[in-house]
Amino acid sequence: MTEQEPNSVDDPRQRPRRRLDRFVNRRSTLTERGYGCVALDRPKDSVNVGHVLRAALGFEARMVILAEADPEIDVQKLKTDPGRAYRHVPVLRVDDIFDALPEDCTPVAIELTDDAIDLPTFVHPERACYIFGPENGSVSPEIIQRCQMTVKIPTVMSLNLGMTVNIVLYDRLAKRDRSRVSQAE
Ligand SMILES: C[S@@+](CC[C@H](N)C(=O)[O-])C[C@H]1O[C@@H](n2cnc3c(N)ncnc32)[C@H](O)[C@@H]1O
Repeated sequence: MTEQEPNSVDDPRQRPRRRLDRFVNRRSTLTERGYGCVALDRPKDSVNVGHVLRAALGFEARMVILAEADPEIDVQKLKTDPGRAYRHVPVLRVDDIFDALPEDCTPVAIELTDDAIDLPTFVHPERACYIFGPENGSVSPEIIQRCQMTVKIPTVMSLNLGMTVNIVLYDRLAKRDRSRVSQAE
């Protein structure tokens, strides 16, 4: 009886090691990394909520959170939101914004405070929830404390709520597109 030759083809120790680098080097096909969502703290005015929903739809925000919103506000019938954004952007009504905050999403208070970061120099987190205050007040101190950062638009007086949401979402979009262009160069 002759000694059996080891079968090198079927011996797992002899198989070539699987090359893993092709898995980690594959280019992402996502058009955007991360997302932005919007939260309104105690909104009072349906005109503003309509502007906010329209902005959320236009700038592709992924969700709008309404915390302690005036019960009279009917998100399905807003004169300033003719596209009825609620059909395309999820709108959540909650008591506490942080109960609706997605996993690993950075809460950013948008408020005109002395120590806030100026929006023009702000680097947006990959996953951000921008929290805005009510028309007749400010983002509550408890919310500001729970936010990782506070950002202001450096104006000499406070702006309209709907306008502020448009500016912040536009800033996110503009910086994203600028970084795409500089990466391509
Ligand atoms: C109309 S403002 C509230 C009114 C304001 N507290 C006042 O001076 O009477 C509503 C919300 O818009 C946002 N906002 C308005 N102007 C802003 C600015 N320049 N920078 C950052 N947030 C601003 C804040 O979230 C604010 O709570």
